[in-house]
Amino acid sequence: MIKKCLFPAAGYGTRFLPATKAMPKEMLPILTKPLIQYGVEEAMDAGCDIMAIITGRGKRAITDHFDISYELEQQIQGSPKENLLKDIRKVMDKCTFTYTRQNEMKGLGDAIYKGNVLVGFQSPFAVILADDLCVNPNGDGILKQMVDLYAKYKCSIVAIMEVPECDISKYGIIEGKEIENGVYMVSNMVEKPETKNAPSNLAVIGRYILTPDIFNLIKDTKPGKNGEIQITDALCEQAKKGMVLAYKFKGRRFDCGSVDGFVEATNYFYKNLK
Ligand code: G1P
Repeated sequence: MIKKCLFPAAGYGTRFLPATKAMPKEMLPILTKPLIQYGVEEAMDAGCDIMAIITGRGKRAITDHFDISYELEQQIQGSPKENLLKDIRKVMDKCTFTYTRQNEMKGLGDAIYKGNVLVGFQSPFAVILADDLCVNPNGDGILKQMVDLYAKYKCSIVAIMEVPECDISKYGIIEGKEIENGVYMVSNMVEKPETKNAPSNLAVIGRYILTPDIFNLIKDTKPGKNGEIQITDALCEQAKKGMVLAYKFKGRRFDCGSVDGFVEATNYFYKNLK
């Protein structure tokens, strides 16, 4: 039912300088796989086959990654190294990649808005922020869990997790009423509140399912936190006008937008997948 997944990937990744000076942060690898490929595989496992990527200047490596590299493929053909390309080949066989650029950094809401040319106004779509790397070794991936929930409720859904007080101001925070185990009906959402003003400790992480009416709501959203157009504000409006759910996902999320989270993810994957 949800075939398209949007990947906002225009940000500068300043926390990883100098590594991200000439290389997109989405291409930083956890072991041998770039972050964005983990996200694309999660979307594919959830049933998506159109990957819509919002890029920006200096992000050509992402486009090249999801394309054939003839010289390389020819060189390793028939050698044991071919196996290393197994996963990326599967992705390329099954999915179509589309791209557009966000040419000014005006916030996540604006980046998602730019995606309307790729995902259209007719169907719900998913959004993955690739620097939130999610795993669920005991079952369905996080986006698949959300797609299943969408089938039941047919409204926008955000993934949430409990965070310690000291981290509240780093996230979009929701307020809501639990309507079934781990599923909340959102009544309010605040982007990066101060701890003392936060309505809860339930933080949005980088997985969304959005119904296309979100585009008109983003269009009417004024710049919010840090002077940027925030998807949190548009979703808050959607929750007030209709219905938005927040889903406490099963699994684990690594904040690979921070060096600590990145190292944690690297250690986790080294231990569990090697
Ligand atoms: C974005 C969103 C925020 C969300 C977070 C999850 O913030 O604006 O609501 O909680 O992603 O990672 P960013 O981390 O891009 O500043």
